Amino acid sequence: MPSFARSFNKTTLALATAAAASLALPSANAAEVEVLHWWTSGGEARAANVLKELMEAEGYGWEDFAVAGGGGETAMTVLKSRAMSGNPPSAAQIKGPEIQEWGELGLLGELDEVAEAEGWDELLPPTVAEVMRHDGSYVAVPVNVHRVNWLWANPEVLEAAGVEMPTTLDELFSAGEAIREAGYIPLAHGGQAWQDATVFETVLLATGGTEFYQQALVELDEEALGGEQMVEALETFKRLRELMDDDMSGRDWNIATSMVIEGTAGMQLMGDWAKGEFTAAGLTAGEDYLCAAAPGTQDAFTFNIDSLAMFRVEGEEREAQQALARLVLEPTFQEAFNLAKGSIPARPDLDMGEFDSCAQQSMQDFQRTAEEDGLVPSMAHGMAVRADVQGAIFDVVTNYFNSRDMAAEEAARRMVNAAQAAL
Ligand code: GAL
Repeated sequence: MPSFARSFNKTTLALATAAAASLALPSANAAEVEVLHWWTSGGEARAANVLKELMEAEGYGWEDFAVAGGGGETAMTVLKSRAMSGNPPSAAQIKGPEIQEWGELGLLGELDEVAEAEGWDELLPPTVAEVMRHDGSYVAVPVNVHRVNWLWANPEVLEAAGVEMPTTLDELFSAGEAIREAGYIPLAHGGQAWQDATVFETVLLATGGTEFYQQALVELDEEALGGEQMVEALETFKRLRELMDDDMSGRDWNIATSMVIEGTAGMQLMGDWAKGEFTAAGLTAGEDYLCAAAPGTQDAFTFNIDSLAMFRVEGEEREAQQALARLVLEPTFQEAFNLAKGSIPARPDLDMGEFDSCAQQSMQDFQRTAEEDGLVPSMAHGMAVRADVQGAIFDVVTNYFNSRDMAAEEAARRMVNAAQAAL
């Protein structure tokens, strides 16, 4: 999104609005929030709309600041330029350690009054609450919990190929071959850095397990980043290219999901925002499409918590912002939003009766893996390391994946450098 064009339009609009306001009666609906997010696919937009409608039902205005681009890289670039020009939105989808980075810049406003009135400390799991606080104050509110390590499949394609849902990486490769022989693309993928990183972290989890994942992608341990297990993860990741098609370069993730929906491709490795696309297409989990933990990762849960961080704003905008924060954790929003988004609620006390079998499995696995040390933060989705480290790792992963001749050992060496350079 060209940010200059956008701010130009905003300025024009602001001037026009100011001119109109000086002539007209005061608006009954003046308090407004502007919310930056990147929820622009079919399923994502349906989910974002839930919040807009709830705000409007309470008499607040909603200015949608949607910046297309899965994974949010473009959205973050646009947000930075808006914030630098001293004009941030009221709220923005900012996640994990990045919340602290914005907090350190002194740009976030606190939500302690709402948090206290609504009892957030009791509602939220402590690990989630921790991420939402800066300097002891709530500055963000969680909308959901996404699981990244999922495999999605079209059951008709699997049947045509005579294979079952794979549960190990070996089974994934052999099912993939059978699907190819039956005339379909085995694995739908979009060649974008964040999608490559999403598949990579899932494969690394499958080959190395949660402890290795934690050492390499969270603690940035040099031996883990540059060692044999990393080489194995990289080599296995690269082999997955054999299951992908030649036109994947630059493809958006939701287009890849639609290939599974339409049955031109058999499977996709992607977080459960993909479920939002199946849901938007009117399909039923377990019948029209299948979900399972990504092969080899049944005992792990890579979490990705979407949250809205609040910028320091004043007056009516602050009032609207506080209402937004309150609504986000209320059961009505948590249920409706997450049914559309494919994720599970951020608060564990809600009845999951309305949710489909994939979401119910997600909730159970979240709780089970939390007890068994299987819960890991997603590197690809900004939950594990700061943005500069994440960006440097993305570069290595994507360059290696697309290179004809880079050896896995060389990529592993670059991983070590990426983590060091960013420190
Ligand atoms: C993730 C985000 C999800 C989903 C996905 C694809 O990073 O947490 O909410 O939007 O990107 O855009």
